[in-house]
Amino acid sequence: MCGIIGAVRKSDVLPVLLDGLKRLEYRGYDSAGIAVIANKSVSRVRSVGKIAALEQAIQTRQVLHGTTGIAHTRWATHGPPTEINAHPHISEGRIALVCNGIVENHEEIRQKLMSEGMRFVSQTDTEVIVNLVSREIRQGKDLLEAVKETTSMLEGAYAIGVVSADEPDRLVGARHGSPLVVGIGDGESYIASDMSALLPVTRDFFVLENGDIVDIQENRITIVDQSGRTQSRPVKTSSLSLEAVELGNHRHFMSKEIHEQDQSVSNTLEGRITGTRILEACFGNRATQVFDRIRSVQIIACGTSFHAGLVARHWFEEHGIPCQVEIGSEFHSRIHAVPEDSLVVSLSQSGETRDTLSALEHAMESGYAHSLAICNVPDSSLVRNSELVLMTHAGPEIGVASTKAFTTHLVALRLLVIALGRRFRMTETDEARLVRELRELPKQIRAALEIESQIRNIARQFVDKHHALFLGRGIHYPIALEGALKLKEISYIHAEAYPAGELKHGPLALVDNEMPVVSVAPNDRLLNKLKGNIEEVRARGGKLIVFADSRTRLRSQENLQVIHVAPVDSSIAPIIFTIPLQMLAYHVGLIKGTDVDRPRNLAKSVTVE
Ligand code: F6R
Repeated sequence: MCGIIGAVRKSDVLPVLLDGLKRLEYRGYDSAGIAVIANKSVSRVRSVGKIAALEQAIQTRQVLHGTTGIAHTRWATHGPPTEINAHPHISEGRIALVCNGIVENHEEIRQKLMSEGMRFVSQTDTEVIVNLVSREIRQGKDLLEAVKETTSMLEGAYAIGVVSADEPDRLVGARHGSPLVVGIGDGESYIASDMSALLPVTRDFFVLENGDIVDIQENRITIVDQSGRTQSRPVKTSSLSLEAVELGNHRHFMSKEIHEQDQSVSNTLEGRITGTRILEACFGNRATQVFDRIRSVQIIACGTSFHAGLVARHWFEEHGIPCQVEIGSEFHSRIHAVPEDSLVVSLSQSGETRDTLSALEHAMESGYAHSLAICNVPDSSLVRNSELVLMTHAGPEIGVASTKAFTTHLVALRLLVIALGRRFRMTETDEARLVRELRELPKQIRAALEIESQIRNIARQFVDKHHALFLGRGIHYPIALEGALKLKEISYIHAEAYPAGELKHGPLALVDNEMPVVSVAPNDRLLNKLKGNIEEVRARGGKLIVFADSRTRLRSQENLQVIHVAPVDSSIAPIIFTIPLQMLAYHVGLIKGTDVDRPRNLAKSVTVE
């Protein structure tokens, strides 16, 4: 789970590689490196830490100038984040290689190569790939043939970029399970893990498919499969704007992404509703045919996307649609009693989360009838492997902590609930009401964002805390889970979420005046029960922070701080009540001085199981 980039240019390759690495940094950032072919030899600089550290290392050494090169930003899987384990890896001083992914049979290959006398210096699985390529070249193959032969021996999921000092204007890339795009420039060509890395230099791309190998020689791009047959892939023109992947006036992408949720939600809705109805065709040509058959829904997702699924279960079941939700990594590791005519709905911002992809594959092999992906990244693996697709159109999400992906997933799920609900017990009047509520959302999101200054003050109370508890009831329990997840990843404070009703079954023992207890209190039918739980905490000296609908009559008093949120319809309240919790996590992280957009040990796109 790393970012890779490579280029064959007419001028110095270094600025493009460095800029691209910065755009890919969200994918992993524990170490980074660059290799350039200069004067028929490989020149490499690597460093531990973020791209800024690599930039500094390059300045001190001043060695990397040439027109062909590759670069990498790493999220460690095999071997700790040291300089020796950082990519590019070099074999026999002539071949340099970057990899995003995992080689499952690396140990076996390593033993074999060592028995042939090859040396290994790192603990990474990637080093076996570069040594294999090098061995093939020694046996007389050119770079493309060597990569073809090498990839036929690898098991796992990976994308690679390789250059050779003996073929200075050539770059070969290969994709098997991890994403790789080819950028088509003006007399120059590129590879990268995603399009955003290359936006300043091109908007035209080939999206490689699994098993594709790309051979770039000066400005000629050839794509072949494992057996050498030429493959033609359509040119895709990216509609991403540069501003969408830049900070603008914000200090962090997380803040930018929190604040653009009114717009991203509008984008999710655009073209999907008309008058008082939703347009079913937005799910794809076959949607009506598929939906007519569906009798239940199985949601699979990871992390924040999983929390969106937990919210949606309440919505589906409220309208008579049986729904199960499971974490991808759990789903793909067990045997299923498959219900008839069940729709597998996978949720993923990136569309490249390995556990979600494996869960989808496992579902289809197990006999689930149909699949639908809700996703933010066009041409991602999830989108390509699903029968029906609803893109969220949230725009690039760069902050590692997911924010606008969560709210847009919820909006997309709401559209699905309506489309399926018509076949269960949703009436036209219900549909008209739900559509009206969706139309109101962007305005309500803007209102929720207005309480940020109050949240900034509250955030100060968390700075010296080690633990926090989040409480929610019913459909807001997943919102508590999401609030706790955001706080722990951004501020490194241990945060746990509990269904408020479960408090008395154990967690009350933890309550004291040291651990803040956060809750959301929408004006719904569970409010009185929640008020009871709030009192249980206060009675034990606990300190509460409650984000409450202003109609709830909850008021601040001793050990209870209430921050009012503008009134909101109860069915979409989970979307609105998420926003204060996102802002809380952001401001706690900011005050604590953590790297908000790139929290330690994490990566944006988790392409390993
Ligand atoms: C948390 C977060 C992760 C992701 C998870 C799934 O803030 O970002 O938990 O939600 O890794 O990622 P996607 O949605 O890309 O499948």
